Amino acid sequence: MIGIFDSGVGGLTVYKEIAKALPNEDIIYLGDTKQFPYGNKSKETIIELTKKNIEFLISKNVDIIVIACGTATSQALEEVKQNYNIPIIGIIQPTINELEKDLNTENIGVIATTGTIRSNSWEKEIKKVLPSTNVINKACPLLAQMAEEGWTTNEIAKLTIKEYLKVFENKSIQKLILGCTHYPLFKEIIREELGDAVEIINTGENVAEYLKNIIKTSIDGKGKHEFYLTDLETEFLRVAKNLLEEEIELKKA
Ligand code: DGL
Repeated sequence: MIGIFDSGVGGLTVYKEIAKALPNEDIIYLGDTKQFPYGNKSKETIIELTKKNIEFLISKNVDIIVIACGTATSQALEEVKQNYNIPIIGIIQPTINELEKDLNTENIGVIATTGTIRSNSWEKEIKKVLPSTNVINKACPLLAQMAEEGWTTNEIAKLTIKEYLKVFENKSIQKLILGCTHYPLFKEIIREELGDAVEIINTGENVAEYLKNIIKTSIDGKGKHEFYLTDLETEFLRVAKNLLEEEIELKKA
C-alpha cells in the first residue's frame, strides 16, 4: 500500500500519475487541509507537520510513503526519514534522476513555494548532477492558494502566472520545474505563457516512474484508493473532480 501526503489538493497531481502507472496498488492519500498552506511556514513547523502526516499513514499500514509536497520534501525529508523504518521518498530525487540524463541543459527554471525556494534544495540537487547548469529560482506564493480555490484557468490565474514568469524572459530556459505539486494544475496557462519550446516538468510523472521501478510485486485487480483530509471544509472535492475526472469520497483524518 502506498501512502501519499500533501498540504491539500496539490499532491493529487502526483497521486494521479501514480494511480495511472500502478493501477493495482492500494493508495491512501492524506491532505493536511487544516494546516494548509505549508509554503510560508518555518522549517521547524514543516518538520513537525511532516512527522504527523507520516505517522498517520504508518498507522494505516502503508508500505512506502510519498511526500507529494515540494515544501515538505525540501525542508523535512532528509531530517525525518531516518526516524522511520519504511521507505519515504519525495518529489525532488526522482526528478533529479531524470534531469541528469540530459547533460545539455544550460538553463533551468524552478518555480515553487517560498519555503522551497528559501531552502535552495532544487538548485543544490541540480548542481550535484549538472554542475554547469544555470538555475533560476522563483517563489510563487499565491499559486497554491489559488489552486485550492480552483482558480487555475481563469483570468486572475493567467495574469498571476504571467507576472511570476516574467523573471524567465530572455533567460533561454529549456526546462521549467514545477517545484510545488499544486502547479501542474496551471499547466495549460503556463504552457501558453512559455510556448512549446520549454519543457514543463511535472514531478508526479517522475515519482510514478521511480515507484514503478521499485515496486516489483504486482497484484491483480484495481487497487483500493482512500482519501483523508484533516479538515473537510474545503473546495477539495470540486478541484479533485476536475483534475481526476471522477468522484472521490472523503474521510476525516
Ligand atoms: N503542494 C505543496 C508543495 O508542493 C504545498 C503548497 C502549500 O501548502 O503552500 O510545495
